[in-house]
Amino acid sequence: MLKRIDHVAIIVRSIEQALIFYRDILGMIPSEIKDVPTEHVRVVFLHMDGSKGSQIELIEPTMPHSSLTRFLEKRGEGLHHICLEVDDIDAALHEMQEKDVLVVDHQHQAAEGCAIFLHPKGTNGVLLELIEKRACKSTNALLA
Ligand code: CO
Repeated sequence: MLKRIDHVAIIVRSIEQALIFYRDILGMIPSEIKDVPTEHVRVVFLHMDGSKGSQIELIEPTMPHSSLTRFLEKRGEGLHHICLEVDDIDAALHEMQEKDVLVVDHQHQAAEGCAIFLHPKGTNGVLLELIEKRACKSTNALLA
């Protein structure tokens, strides 16, 4: 069911400041910076050569008391999550639930597809996102 590492997400205080390293020094190519008001963040994806390559996602919290702002204040900048691409997010969610893995949410529309988060308690300390590269079907967005 797993295909590849889709992206590694890093939480930062300022995307513009982080781009000085990731774009200007490392030479990665940034997407447009996207405002995601529902999640209280701005994000940018950086890729290397080739559209199939894994990406780095920079996440900048935009609201003072959101959970991501608290994460940043408590732990500082750094790794936030790793995202693995799957063939079928519905099947992946079902399988994780069958195997009693702690799933944080039951599908959310992420910037790059339909995704779920697995709690770090069940993954040896890393927030793990599983994503299928398609829009969430609204009818089963709350599949339990
Ligand atoms: Co992500």
